[in-house]
Amino acid sequence: MEARLAGCGRATTGMPLSAMVAQRSRHQSGPDPHDDVRALYARVAARYGVCGRTTRAYVASKLRRDPVHAAVLALARPLGLGVVLDAGCGRGQMGIALLEAGLARAVLGLDCVAARLAETRRAAAGLAFVVAAQDLASGKALPPADTVLMIDVLYQLAPAVQRQVIASAARAARRAVLIRALDPDRGWRSALTLGFERLTRHLSPHAGRHVAPLPVAEIAATFRLAGFAVDVTPCWGGTPFSNVLLIATRLA
Ligand SMILES: C[S@@+](CC[C@H](N)C(=O)[O-])C[C@H]1O[C@@H](n2cnc3c(N)ncnc32)[C@H](O)[C@@H]1O
Repeated sequence: MEARLAGCGRATTGMPLSAMVAQRSRHQSGPDPHDDVRALYARVAARYGVCGRTTRAYVASKLRRDPVHAAVLALARPLGLGVVLDAGCGRGQMGIALLEAGLARAVLGLDCVAARLAETRRAAAGLAFVVAAQDLASGKALPPADTVLMIDVLYQLAPAVQRQVIASAARAARRAVLIRALDPDRGWRSALTLGFERLTRHLSPHAGRHVAPLPVAEIAATFRLAGFAVDVTPCWGGTPFSNVLLIATRLA
């Protein structure tokens, strides 16, 4: 499926969106010659210096190692993502990277962990980044935005809650929804990822209450029914995990 994000039709390179994202993800370990992603990541990580060395090191490593950041920046590059809602924003490094790169107009980050929101607020000082505490399981509607981001969040919610949040995201997004999801149907990758997540659930500070990924086909079908075009592309980079990026773009 071709790119439709933000009405951009095809990416500026003329290649299909999924191919562009895959290419960017493959190059994640090196600098992007056009946009100097490495310098961007360094600027973003430096902002977390106010949160202490451990947090800064965590964010620096996360930006460098997780291909989702390069993938989202690549999608944003042609036209920007406008006003962004980052649901389950964690420490907010994705939103800060988008703002630092001039690829978002403003970001609202929601999370249920106050300490992470406090770190995000401090790191984002001076940027158009607002944070708010919201439990995605509360049933409260997501606020409207041009683009809704949900990165590594859905699978941590109960399946019924995921369905509510997905429906709410489809209503909230004026242009697009970008979801990084754990795909439970990618064979050995899924078995390994699910096993890892379940094993580390009680140890990892980033784990949630559940490890219950919905079939990606079900998420895609919900967005198609709501009037979006949907593209799903691997977003695992050099890792053995089964992460994919689902790109839902509202049809005119
Ligand atoms: C694996 S982290 C991902 C954080 C961030 N999206 C990123 O890419 O770094 C999952 C995040 O979802 C948040 N989360 C999990 N369940 C939530 C809920 N019910 N309501 C709000 N946030 C939730 C967690 O607090 C955590 O910050």
